Amino acid sequence: MKISKLFTSTTLLTSIVLLASTFITPALAAGHTHNSWRAPGDLDSWASIFILIASLMVAAFVNGRESRTRIIGTWLAALGCFGVVAWFGVYAIDTLDNPREHVLPVDAAKPILLQAQMLIAFVVGLALLVVARWQARRTDRLDIPTHNTPDNYGKVSRILHWTIAILIILLVPMGIFATMIPEGTSFRGYYYVTHKSLGFSVLILVFARLAWNIWGSRRPALATELKLWERRLAHTMHILLYVLMIGLPISGFMMSDFGGASSHFFFWDITPFFEKSIPTRDILGLMHKVVLPYLLYIFLGTHILGALKHQFIDKHENALRRMVS
Ligand code: HEM
Repeated sequence: MKISKLFTSTTLLTSIVLLASTFITPALAAGHTHNSWRAPGDLDSWASIFILIASLMVAAFVNGRESRTRIIGTWLAALGCFGVVAWFGVYAIDTLDNPREHVLPVDAAKPILLQAQMLIAFVVGLALLVVARWQARRTDRLDIPTHNTPDNYGKVSRILHWTIAILIILLVPMGIFATMIPEGTSFRGYYYVTHKSLGFSVLILVFARLAWNIWGSRRPALATELKLWERRLAHTMHILLYVLMIGLPISGFMMSDFGGASSHFFFWDITPFFEKSIPTRDILGLMHKVVLPYLLYIFLGTHILGALKHQFIDKHENALRRMVS
């Protein structure tokens, strides 16, 4: 299937499901105590949909067939990075000066963590502009197959990989920032709706990716040039990343639910399933807010540095191209 067809069908399907859930399903949900539907005009739900579709678009474009499409994808990704930095400079900076009171001692690290993440976003944005210039020199067509091959990832795996990566990279600063907004601030709820909607989307996409790996198309084998210890490390890292990608949304949902707060999936408000329990909420909160995010920083950092080492230090030609066009 062509990338444009794949992208169009994914976008169409997502839009149909979301629109159906907004306008049609409230009737079905009437009377179900766990469902309630937000007004179609709710901006935070629309913002969440926009971010999801934009992430899908970037992931699809950077793996496009024509060099022009890939350049647009890279430009959009750079724009996203600068957009996040601009958001930080315009909206978040005030909250950093007057954050909500610390709940845990590690909360004191949040302003510096957020600033470091914004600096990374800025540097990555600049790096992407350089990549776009480099891409402009290539005019070749890339026919990436839909399925994985023994050596490379196919389109479906690439699009899922990059959409999940973009969403997680956005969810981390969004989550940190949401926890810093003082109670009673008018826009506090918006961040929670967006964070939770996109968090559930990650969970669904990760399951889709697992299903694709198992039933759709087996993952390519690890590069043969890797030493035994590198293969073992890469394999362990992949498993741990999956544990995190599933553990983070589930712990977030359970923490919220045991705390008595509703969860949100775009236009769907989900009232708590479990009986309120503050000790359980606190344990899950420790997982969602401290243990899992810090493990994510370590594993994601190792994953990225590992891929860069193979490409640029070990000079394994295909290391990045397995997942990047
Ligand atoms: C891959 C998905 C997710 C990631 C990477 C993620 C990441 C984070 C991070 C880094 C924080 C900030 C923690 C802190 O510094 O205190 C956070 C906060 C939060 N997350 Fe998530 N999250 C995800 C999914 C979810 C989901 C699905 C839900 C609920 C349905 C959720 C609910 C929350 C809530 C309520 C907070 C704020 C807690 C507070 O106000 O104290 N998260 N998240």
